[in-house]
Amino acid sequence: MCGIVGYIGKREAYPILIKGLERLEYRGYDSAGVALLNEGVFSVHKKKGKVVELKKLVAHKKLLGKVGIAHTRWATHGIPSDKNAHPQLSNSGDIIIVHNGIIENYLTIKKVLTKKGYKFYSDTDTEVLANLIEDIKKNTKVNLGEAVRLALLEIDGAYGILVLAKDEPDTIVVAKIGSPAVIGVGGSKTNPEFFIASDATPIIEYTDRVIYLEDREMGIIKNGELTIKTIQNKIVNPYVHKLEMKIEELEKGGFEHFMLKEIFEQPEALHSTIRGRLIESDGNIKFGGLEKFQKELKNLRSLTVVAMGTARFTGLIGEYALEELADIPTKVEYGSEFTYRKKAIAKNSGLLAISQSGETADTLNSIKEAKRKGMLTLGIVNVIGSSIAREVDAGIYNHVGPETAVASTKASTSQVLLQIMLAIYLGRMRGLTKKEGQTILKEIQKLPELAAKTLKNSDQIKNLAKKYKKIEHFFFLGRKYNAGTAMEGALKMKECSYIHAEGMNATELKHGPLSLIDENFPSLVIAPMDSMYEKSKSSIQEIKARGGLVIALTTEGNKELEKIANDVIYIPKTLEMLTPILAFIPMQLFAYYIAVERGNDVDKPRNLAKSVTVE
Ligand code: M6R
Repeated sequence: MCGIVGYIGKREAYPILIKGLERLEYRGYDSAGVALLNEGVFSVHKKKGKVVELKKLVAHKKLLGKVGIAHTRWATHGIPSDKNAHPQLSNSGDIIIVHNGIIENYLTIKKVLTKKGYKFYSDTDTEVLANLIEDIKKNTKVNLGEAVRLALLEIDGAYGILVLAKDEPDTIVVAKIGSPAVIGVGGSKTNPEFFIASDATPIIEYTDRVIYLEDREMGIIKNGELTIKTIQNKIVNPYVHKLEMKIEELEKGGFEHFMLKEIFEQPEALHSTIRGRLIESDGNIKFGGLEKFQKELKNLRSLTVVAMGTARFTGLIGEYALEELADIPTKVEYGSEFTYRKKAIAKNSGLLAISQSGETADTLNSIKEAKRKGMLTLGIVNVIGSSIAREVDAGIYNHVGPETAVASTKASTSQVLLQIMLAIYLGRMRGLTKKEGQTILKEIQKLPELAAKTLKNSDQIKNLAKKYKKIEHFFFLGRKYNAGTAMEGALKMKECSYIHAEGMNATELKHGPLSLIDENFPSLVIAPMDSMYEKSKSSIQEIKARGGLVIALTTEGNKELEKIANDVIYIPKTLEMLTPILAFIPMQLFAYYIAVERGNDVDKPRNLAKSVTVE
């Protein structure tokens, strides 16, 4: 996720800004930049790569200016590059801006500005906003604060921005929707200074007095005075918080580990995954990246999903949705095996690669092989501009922000959701009716809220972790959509807790694994109230009859399993195909809390790497 830093006061801004960027590095990014305003001139420096590259770039330059803005960019529009890095200047060079988030209607605004003669030198939505502000400022003769406010009234999307104007060196403007923005109030009455950032980590060493901007609010700092107003121009009385956290705590947003932070980010991540993509009126989905391939997608006769680890397990869930909604024969393959299978490829068959990092070598190789075989290649990828994102013919981004913990959490729930959305998209080209599409869309819209509700049970899961922490073996079992969920639950348990766990379709149990069951070998059975409920209940009874312990995961309101299972975890009611998204959450928490109980290095489990770039 991008990070913004700004400073205005009596000190030289550069050391504060660069240190601030370093403090925000934990958020993940692919380029960095800084701009200073000194004697009516902007000096702008930006570089693809890490902050250290930016530091090298400016090492021999004199960087003066008591006001400035800086940015770490996690690419969304346009690949990571020097030209797409922020800050972005307007055409005349009068306005400069850094921006977190996505401006959804930037193409419409870009068209209007292009007609007026504006040129664009980057692929970013940010440059469009810089020019819109310039256009308004020039044509309405208002000051920077008002020009930004008027521009924001025309913007759809999420953002956290910092803006400077060349002719107003005493002013810095900050605004936000969705992305966070914090204003640190420092100095004294006679010598005020302000620090602005995406979170308090770059600010804490200068002041402990901070104001958290609310959505649709903006802060205008002019001549040492801060005014906060809504975008609708209503003045707001800010509440000044006193920071009590330590820097290390702040980096993880107050969570003990990145994994826990990322688990708790899932409501927001699901929201970002669907943002701007649901066309309710048509019961359909909009995927910008697929638009050029409408004809090929209509003709698609079969699909092979390739992925590894967690991503592959999400594929096993997506497989059901692609067959149910799009009526496309789908199979899921290990990325590693696809390359080495000597199999004739039927005409009009496609390959869907799923990868959080976009760098997994096994998956990447299978795309190259599919291309050699003439298949249409699609991707679901989180990291913008990654190798897989660049290699596939057409792609869909998760937009969930960087995942730092080795264990995949927020990317995985987004992967499941995107496959269901893809199934709707392909289904609407085939037999899926508008009404059927609308029914699923309605439930998809509720997911962020339902995920937040699921997270409210975290204390119960923490207690379960205490109870089961000494167990050495675990089964994770589920049927149909939740067979993949079970496999993912077992993987989380293995990689974080170092407990031997097996995930499988519950029906397999009676074909062999049941012989392992005894009082020291518990099973977590995923049994929501859906088409497979009775079958899953039978599996629970089979285990119980052999003296095994059972944790049942079922739908809220179903009290029946409390009488049979040893422990019950509840998830909110949703459509059968969406249950895995909610069921993933308690399993992630269970693996996490057991790992913490056992004293493991949760974010970096032994022997593992975040990106597996070797075959
Ligand atoms: O980056 P990718 O999604 O391609 O990674 C695939 C697997 O290596 C990954 O999902 C791995 O299994 C995770 N550590 C699981 O939490």
